[in-house]
Amino acid sequence: MKVGILTGGGDAPGIDAVIRAVVRKGIQNYGYEILGIRDGWHGLLDRELLPLDLASVSGILPRGGSILGTSRTNPFKHEKGPEKILENVRKAGIGALVVIGGDDTLSVASKMGGYGLKCVGVPKTIDNDIAGTDYTFGFNTAVTIATEALDRLHTTAETHQRVMILEVMGRNTGWIALEAGIAGGADIILIPEKPFSIKEVCGHIKHRQTRGRNFSLVVVAEGAKPKGGAEIVYSEAVDEFGHIRLGGIGYYVGREIEKCMNIETRVVVLGHLQRGGSPTAFDRILATRFGIEAIDLVHKRRFDRMVAIQGNRINSVALKNVIGKRKTVDLELYNIAKVFFG
Ligand code: F6P
Repeated sequence: MKVGILTGGGDAPGIDAVIRAVVRKGIQNYGYEILGIRDGWHGLLDRELLPLDLASVSGILPRGGSILGTSRTNPFKHEKGPEKILENVRKAGIGALVVIGGDDTLSVASKMGGYGLKCVGVPKTIDNDIAGTDYTFGFNTAVTIATEALDRLHTTAETHQRVMILEVMGRNTGWIALEAGIAGGADIILIPEKPFSIKEVCGHIKHRQTRGRNFSLVVVAEGAKPKGGAEIVYSEAVDEFGHIRLGGIGYYVGREIEKCMNIETRVVVLGHLQRGGSPTAFDRILATRFGIEAIDLVHKRRFDRMVAIQGNRINSVALKNVIGKRKTVDLELYNIAKVFFG
């Protein structure tokens, strides 16, 4: 059988480890042919295909990005998109598809299942916001990078007696901010799930000053918003899935802190540094386990499913049960973080 594989949405460290696992086990154990599809769903609309053999995945385990490229193409926004995809799948002789993506890309896989396309999903995003799985691959790397950034900001914040604000990604959830904030000893963590008040933020900073700590570290998730306010957007332009580009909340928080108290602030927007480069060992292992499970599901002909990790066991869940259900942060974890605020 010919198995197609594609990557959609924002990249996440570990994609190549998934591709490698699918190709290695697919060819070695099942005798499949593996066909890479370029740039997510775009490659199936335009038939941009790339046969993958054992040599093409050699050496890619530690790489960031995707050897297949990616895009935020939504076939349902293209004239006769789903029909074109079915036609191209038929012409290429693809019998099943491994779809590596976040909620948007996987929602297309789920809908295409209704058209008869045989898909297995692999949850990928640094945001860790996909329901049904404890972790997505890429998240651990993003948290590790954000934690390192906090460690570095710590020394300069302390030396200059400033408030350093680190803005991290995560779209509408605060997973990266929360976990990096705990690991990096943040004094305040602002996340979309808990709208904030600047008065409270300044209260924490002032409380630290009463303890002789004349500097603070604030981690803010890009989707965090003030109570009664809205997210700050970098651009109103939307992608094919209707998402705006978030960004800028760090500067808002920095300015507001300076307005309410006499302390200097500096802002660092970590941006795509969180997504680029080599995956951590955790993400390489998770991505490898996901890839193996995905090709095993194909072999068992268990389609319309997404691989998942639940309590360190690799499982799978029905795609239709997880699509569109954003996994917000664990409030128990947030309560732990709060102990260290101020
Ligand atoms: O979903 C992953 C993510 O990195 C979000 O955290 C961020 O909001 C978004 O993608 C940025 O995407 P891009 O800059 O690639 O459009």
